[in-house]
Amino acid sequence: MLEKNIVLIGFMGSGKSMISKKLANMLNRQLLSTDDLIVHQEGRSVNRIFEESGEGYFRQIERKVVQGAAERQSVVIDCGGGVVLNPENITDLKRRGILIYLSASPESLYENIKDKDDRPLLNVGDPLAKIRELLKERRALYEQADYTIKTDNKTADEVCEEVVRILSHD
Ligand code: S3P
Repeated sequence: MLEKNIVLIGFMGSGKSMISKKLANMLNRQLLSTDDLIVHQEGRSVNRIFEESGEGYFRQIERKVVQGAAERQSVVIDCGGGVVLNPENITDLKRRGILIYLSASPESLYENIKDKDDRPLLNVGDPLAKIRELLKERRALYEQADYTIKTDNKTADEVCEEVVRILSHD
């Protein structure tokens, strides 16, 4: 039986990748990560794409990748944090998917990204301030999801359980 896609959206560091992996395993579904697809297609890292070709180029590739992923069925889609910036992405993903926003406080997002350097938008002097700024700009976009799960102080297993509960009622 073909089922709706499970689409995880949310800010960098909200745990989308880990949760989507667990969900895909638990539910025996294929996992698509927009970032992984972009990196594979381009043959270079997200950092390098931003550095060499700019954010605008990254968003163009991201748009194409989202269009392709949104056509699938019964998959889990792990969306890069900026997928919501293009309203067409949301429209396409909603057509065959349930959108779930993993929401977290700026402080816990910062905790999750602070030792990593693979997010070009956060490779700045004060990443916490940048997180607050971007989150302010994007919150309403993330809130277009069908469901929101607050992830602060929850384990990955607890978040997965919530997703499964949502799916059983949807
Ligand atoms: C971005 C989020 C990243 C990646 C790129 C831009 C964003 O994905 O797509 O660095 O604009 O929020 P993750 O949310 O998986 O870190």
